[in-house]
Amino acid sequence: MPTLGVNIDHIATLRQARGGKEPDPLQAAVLAELAGAHGITAHLREDRRHMQDRDIYLLKQTVTTHLNLEMAATSEMVQVAMDVTPHMATLVPEKREERTTEGGLAVRGKERDLEKIIENLHEHNILVSLFVDPDIQQIKAAARSGASHVELHTGYYANASGQAQDDELAKLQDAAIAAHKLGLRVNAGHGLNYRNTSRVADLDHIEELNIGHAIISRAALVGMDLAVRDMLALL
Ligand code: PXP
Repeated sequence: MPTLGVNIDHIATLRQARGGKEPDPLQAAVLAELAGAHGITAHLREDRRHMQDRDIYLLKQTVTTHLNLEMAATSEMVQVAMDVTPHMATLVPEKREERTTEGGLAVRGKERDLEKIIENLHEHNILVSLFVDPDIQQIKAAARSGASHVELHTGYYANASGQAQDDELAKLQDAAIAAHKLGLRVNAGHGLNYRNTSRVADLDHIEELNIGHAIISRAALVGMDLAVRDMLALL
């Protein structure tokens, strides 16, 4: 079975909605680890819409499992990563107007540029994963660029239903097999929830699943009962 990386970005989204200090993603990371999470994932976006630089530095000092920093392949983010030295950097495409990461990284044709970035990160003992669509050409390009890992984009599978979802699952399996044959280690994530995760977890060669929105959403709802009772007790 794959391990679980909990993406805590949306704890920061909630904090930024008020511009205050609560809820603190650092505390969420500690609770996720206490519950058994195998890793913590956080995305420092160029627009700093959720995670802030302070969060990433403190997460590095606090996380006792492993820290996976999602980031765009820009010189600013590479500098931050080399300074923070997370266990892993996952390179993702980033557009300011998107709500969340929409597609995989276009690796094909950019191998040279990515190779330099990956080398720099490797020199700082940071593993590098490329977030890619389940597309054999992108996976071959990821292998050429020197990455040790790919994270397969499960969003197409998560958004599909019926036969189309079965077809997307088959694509994920083919992609994981191809990546494994090329010597890449395979993670997966995006859009996974309490209904659609098991089938991805059962695929061969998937080592880690990164899941955020579904876990943070459920945390808010399963915590509602106690939170209301705690407030009532003060009245
Ligand atoms: N993996 C990557 C590369 C992502 O960009 C995201 C979203 O930040 C996730 C996994 C987690 O996706 P979700 O929040 O839909 O579980």
